[in-house]
Amino acid sequence: MNNTLNTLRPRSRVLILGLGLAALSLAHADSGRMLPRDMPAAYTAECASCHTAYPPGMLPARSWQRIMTGLDKHYGTDASLDSATVKQLGSWLQANAGTYKRVAEEPPQDRITRSAWFERKHREIEPAVWRHASVKSAANCAACHTGADKGDYDDDNLRFPAGLDARYRRAWND
Ligand code: HEC
Ligand code: HEC
Repeated sequence: MNNTLNTLRPRSRVLILGLGLAALSLAHADSGRMLPRDMPAAYTAECASCHTAYPPGMLPARSWQRIMTGLDKHYGTDASLDSATVKQLGSWLQANAGTYKRVAEEPPQDRITRSAWFERKHREIEPAVWRHASVKSAANCAACHTGADKGDYDDDNLRFPAGLDARYRRAWND
């Protein structure tokens, strides 16, 4: 802590630190990757039982709406929920959906993994990697992103999936 901060009365100090934190979390919210702090318990319980809890900011509102109104036919499986939970999660997803430009476009099949930005970020990953037994699917973010459950996709927190041939390492190296 620097000296200027220490000479201030405690309340002002708290205020300044608070503002700093607010600016920090805004920067994160803007990147659209973090899981919002008001994430309902039902989101982890119901939407992270088969896969990662995807950050709402990674899809536009229209895509989340289609997903939440078609849970009985959810990517080849039945993910139906009672209507109160659908309503709760649906409105939370709407409120936190991605709004910035690169997420505004509705990707094919409402898949994060089919978004142009996703394909760009992963362009160095070869198709065989997605299909490898320790990855299974591009939708299985946690196979490579160790912080996926917390909405952390920083490229400092990547792992190279076990059993994958070292020649695929290129994408992990920059
Ligand atoms: C019964 C299991 C199951 C449950 C419960 C479930 N899903 Fe899924 N979900 C799947 C499967 C299977 C896929 C396709 C994964 C793949 O292609 O590898 C999928 C894919 C997705 C995708 C697209 C991923 C991509 O490719 O970008 C989104 C978004 C998604 N689910 C959101 C949700 C939400 C929101 C909920 C909670 C309301 C939910 N899921 C609950 C099984 C489930
Ligand atoms: C097979 C491993 C693998 C899977 C599965 C995977 N990623 Fe990645 N991802 C990577 C690698 C490697 C990079 C870094 C690429 C680079 O820097 O060239 C990356 C980069 C990213 C970035 C950019 C990070 C940054 O700091 O610029 C985001 C965001 C991201 N991934 C999101 C996801 C999401 C969301 C999923 C699941 C829907 C996912 N990834 C699935 C390997 C993976």
